Amino acid sequence: MSSHDDLLKNIISHSKEYGFIFPSSEIYDGLSATYDYGQYGKELKNNIEEYWWKAMVRMHDNIVGIDSAIFMHPTVWKASGHVDAFNDPLIDNKDSKKRYRADVLIEEYIEKLRAKIHKEVEKAAKRFGDDFNMNQFVATHPRVVEYSKQIEVIESRMKNALEENDLQAVKQLILDLEIVDPVSGTRNWTDVRQFNLMFATELGSVSGESSVIYLRPETAQGSYVNFLNVQRSGRMKIPFGICQIGKAFRNEIIARQFIFRMREFEQMEMQFFVRPGDEMEWYEYWKSTRMKWHRNLGMGDARYRFHDHIKLAHYANAACDIEFDFPMGFKEMEGIHSRTDFDLKAHEKFSSRKQQYFDAELNQNYIPYVVETAIGLDRMFMSVLSASYTDEKLPDGSERTLLRIPAQLAPVKVAVLPLVKKDGMPEKAMEVYHKLKLEVNCQFDDKDAIGRRYRRQDAIGTPFCITIDQDTLQDNTVTLRERDSMVQERISIDRLVSEVRDKTSITKLLANLD
Ligand code: GAP
Repeated sequence: MSSHDDLLKNIISHSKEYGFIFPSSEIYDGLSATYDYGQYGKELKNNIEEYWWKAMVRMHDNIVGIDSAIFMHPTVWKASGHVDAFNDPLIDNKDSKKRYRADVLIEEYIEKLRAKIHKEVEKAAKRFGDDFNMNQFVATHPRVVEYSKQIEVIESRMKNALEENDLQAVKQLILDLEIVDPVSGTRNWTDVRQFNLMFATELGSVSGESSVIYLRPETAQGSYVNFLNVQRSGRMKIPFGICQIGKAFRNEIIARQFIFRMREFEQMEMQFFVRPGDEMEWYEYWKSTRMKWHRNLGMGDARYRFHDHIKLAHYANAACDIEFDFPMGFKEMEGIHSRTDFDLKAHEKFSSRKQQYFDAELNQNYIPYVVETAIGLDRMFMSVLSASYTDEKLPDGSERTLLRIPAQLAPVKVAVLPLVKKDGMPEKAMEVYHKLKLEVNCQFDDKDAIGRRYRRQDAIGTPFCITIDQDTLQDNTVTLRERDSMVQERISIDRLVSEVRDKTSITKLLANLD
């Protein structure tokens, strides 16, 4: 088993053991790919939401947030193209009876070629040291050139096949690449078929075609159908944006890899309405703004990369992903899409209601173009866990598992610990705890030896522990222990609140984005 597999397994079991994520309906043996967020998971999720919401809504005068219903009029999904085109190409292996997304099988093949290139580059970089010229190496090394050529050909064949909905060509590509089923090891594939991802249900007690409604597969449509409501009621001028955080549902063919791909998940999406013709400028703006937001967390710039879409969705004229280096490798965490006027135009047509904006500066009516940023909250959550989970050997030979969660996102900011359960220490600690809990999420813990209590806080990612000891009772000072370095400093109780707030506040994090 690779260390990547180990990391994923460790994160899953750690999440359960420490109250971040539980398998859903576990006492009934669970429901495939459905998870519940536990007490610390919910806090972490709240903090990610706050960081996103404030960065988008508070920090931009021209962006507002709404909360639209999950159920929408069924014609919304006809207009948006989801009824006809929100499909994944699926393929079955006849021997293992396992089902796969055909495009993902091909993408994984491409990813293996990329990994080979990466390996060659790493080897050469080591060999040549400071003299290494990566661009020259990639352009001239015979094996790397060959791999790159292969990737280009495969991507172009896949793009053409998917755009023309030529499912036979998709299958042929899988056969030509000799892709085998990872379970059975055979190439005994069925034909490729399209599979619609929307969950349908019925409204009220009447059954039949007319009462079919869908669980929304994206929050975006709720922002589009409210575009004029928001614009008029908020007197918004273009360019302006509408944000939403909410659940979305997709009947994924294969839902796996923990919370990476689920059938019920949460999105944080922003639709930015712009003048036609300005969309590429805003697309570039949002690409860099969103990347900055991610990197600002300090989890390592090399963990993120852009990836341009090979096949554009039915509504887009440009699209890319921000990928994160998850335990399974680089995968999509956020999408940035230039959606043109596709959605508003379609809603105008299907609803027969004008979806136009009067631009006073241009003295002109038009349907705005839209640039969208769409991030999965669960994937963002998983990125934080992946980057922060650490098994560490300490100088004294002992071991600890800690979550190096950025302090501003940590579920619990500070734990207040009396050194021993006597001599007035618990009472003093309780006093400090009551003072702090008004400001930040904190915990009081007086059970077990102090070392074990530190380990418990490390495991849930608490960035600071405050210890009340003999000296506290004399001079009103405490020790403040930092999670990652384990360094302890002595500070006055009077400075505690401002110190902890300063080190854990999302406001400070947001200030770096300005
Ligand atoms: N409104 C555009 C839209 O929905 P998307 O790329 O299909 O775009 C946006 O989805 C984000 O939602 C993705 O980047 C991903 O983070 C998240 N997401 C999509 N499907 C998901 C799933 N099955 N489970 C968890 N997150 C998912």
